[in-house]
Amino acid sequence: TSLQHLAPLHGVLMGKEIVENWKEVEQFQARPDDVYISTYPKAGTTWMSEIVDMIFCEGDQEKCRREAIYNRVPYLELRIPGSPSGVEQLQVAPSPRLVKTHLPIHLMPESIWDKNCKVIYVARNAKDVAVSYFFFHNMVKALPDPGPLDHFLNNYNKGNVSYGSWYDHVNGWWEKRQEYRILYLFYEDLKENPKREILKVLHFLEKEMSDSLVDKIVQHTSFQEMKNNEMVNYKTIPNEFLDQSETSFMRKGIAGDWKNHFTVAQNEIFDEEYNRQMAGKNLHFRTEINVNI
Ligand code: A3P
Repeated sequence: TSLQHLAPLHGVLMGKEIVENWKEVEQFQARPDDVYISTYPKAGTTWMSEIVDMIFCEGDQEKCRREAIYNRVPYLELRIPGSPSGVEQLQVAPSPRLVKTHLPIHLMPESIWDKNCKVIYVARNAKDVAVSYFFFHNMVKALPDPGPLDHFLNNYNKGNVSYGSWYDHVNGWWEKRQEYRILYLFYEDLKENPKREILKVLHFLEKEMSDSLVDKIVQHTSFQEMKNNEMVNYKTIPNEFLDQSETSFMRKGIAGDWKNHFTVAQNEIFDEEYNRQMAGKNLHFRTEINVNI
């Protein structure tokens, strides 16, 4: 696999264009009422972003989109050729701003902590993220060719992928969750009981909402609804950037899909690596859940 599109930044591999323009992100000026949605890639960024957007729009996204100049929830560090960068979009966005990011905690712009901003972190189990990320690599032209799954899993466990090591990411954010205003959530919990988790988000954001509006958000942000929603399923992005002809961005949306892709041998190697890297950490993930749908 070539890593031609990636470059290291303080020990973390990232898109070259992000690294080359890093100063812009480093010097980003936060506002106290910003809300950040932070994740390792494929952990449920789009899902949480839609939930938080619905909360801020009080269910009326049409209105919010009419008022937005660019994306409602831009990626802080993202740069797409020919479009304003995440930072440029945010500089002209009205408050309160909603911001997505995949940055490991040690690379977050200092201003976000200085302003004591709130961050919602979503973590997802390592195996499902690996599978989702593998398929995503085959969709996104700007990411390196993942090669066969074996090869990709090896790179993934070593942190030789865009945004670096899943282990460093989830642990780094976990360790700081009490030092800063961080709500640390799990994809599997959201899947198991979305209403319970959305109520946690509302509490964290100090927002009150009628029960019927909460139910509307649960409904609107279900996997099926989002898969069919052109505003969030990225179907409008041209194939040359995001090729959804083989797999959809809204691919499966479950906990435990890794079982359909890992061989017994791959799973054993993965478990060994996982246990080594998570040893002594007080952070536990579920790799499957029972959901009654
Ligand atoms: P899968 O590839 O396992 O299906 P991100 O937004 O961070 O890139 O994460 C994408 C993953 O989240 C994909 O996982 C996608 O299907 C899943 N996802 C997106 N919206 C979801 C929802 N409403 N419910 C459950 N999973 C969702």
